[in-house]
Amino acid sequence: AAAEKGGYATFMEKEIHEQPHAVADTLLGRTDDAGRLVLDEVRIPEERLRQVERITIVACGTAAYAGMVAKYAIEHWTRIPVEVALAHEFRYCDPIVDENTLVVSISQSGETMDTLMAVKHAAELGAMTLSICNTHGSTIPRESDAVLYTHAGPEIAVASTKAFLAQITACYVLGLYLAQLRGETYADDARAVMAELHEMPAKIEDLLGRMGRVQEMAEFMSDSRAVLFLGRHVGYPVALEGALKLKELAYIHAEGFAAGELKHGPIALIEPGQPVFVVVPSPETPHELHKKVVSNIQEIRARGARTLVIAHDGDEDVEPFASEVIRIPHCSPMLAPLLAVVPLQVFALHLASAKGLDVDQPRNLAKSVTVE
Ligand code: G6P
Repeated sequence: AAAEKGGYATFMEKEIHEQPHAVADTLLGRTDDAGRLVLDEVRIPEERLRQVERITIVACGTAAYAGMVAKYAIEHWTRIPVEVALAHEFRYCDPIVDENTLVVSISQSGETMDTLMAVKHAAELGAMTLSICNTHGSTIPRESDAVLYTHAGPEIAVASTKAFLAQITACYVLGLYLAQLRGETYADDARAVMAELHEMPAKIEDLLGRMGRVQEMAEFMSDSRAVLFLGRHVGYPVALEGALKLKELAYIHAEGFAAGELKHGPIALIEPGQPVFVVVPSPETPHELHKKVVSNIQEIRARGARTLVIAHDGDEDVEPFASEVIRIPHCSPMLAPLLAVVPLQVFALHLASAKGLDVDQPRNLAKSVTVE
């Protein structure tokens, strides 16, 4: 069994370390020599894809958080409205879907019943269906018009890590491809984004080499009763995923919030010693979001919170208000989830291990939920 885990103590730890490959392999072969995206596997005719008027993403759990990241990226690059629906809610909410709607499902296993039923429902309503999936030949891609495979390799640990990064990567690729089809992106240059995406695996590798302090923090915080996570823009789904990992693995009450929502309620939870992770957007994020999140950190620190701040290299503004600063390599704002989530995965893994829990098989959970 140790050999299967490649020398790591758990599958989850192994899979966290496979993330640079998961991202690199998901990018492989998706551009031609001229740097244009070519998605041969997407068998929906290009003229149909040009007619897409709205996109609905359906998924559950971690995959749904990948979908939330995708919404920011796809809307920014294509100006197509994107909605993210939990698959089990989508079917029963009388969804507005027609033949010019692209329903994108995201699923590691390709067997999640809730997601499958959402895809079938969308197809009955006449939508085009595209599956982002990690498992070849599984049910959801077979039931869909098109598939974009993630190449994370088999994920054994119940809590998803490398599949999440691969899903986000595939969503970026899809967004850029749709933008290219419709006449280039409205915002960033698609080739420049692809070039930066190709640099991400090396940055994730670099980041994985810096996780010693996060492990120590997890070990001395192992008796925490509640942990909060704040993020904004693409950092918001990262905060939700950080909280989910801690619930799943360490059985600790954890909540993620949009940082702007703090003053509308969650700030009432802040008391001396309360640990709060804050995912700080890159200083280049538009609309002064960086400054706004830094002032959130200041507010909660003033109320005694233990502020565990995830910030880009070189971002000095966070220092005065941070109990701990966890540094991630610098990247453009839209791609930051591929980095910012890694310390949160590592934190949950080591906190659960410090409590003596089985991180590969948390209680009550199944890797793939094949019942509704
Ligand atoms: C289960 C797993 C989660 C996963 C979710 C969706 O609940 O415990 O880790 O995110 O299913 O799985 P899928 O295979 O559809 O991505």
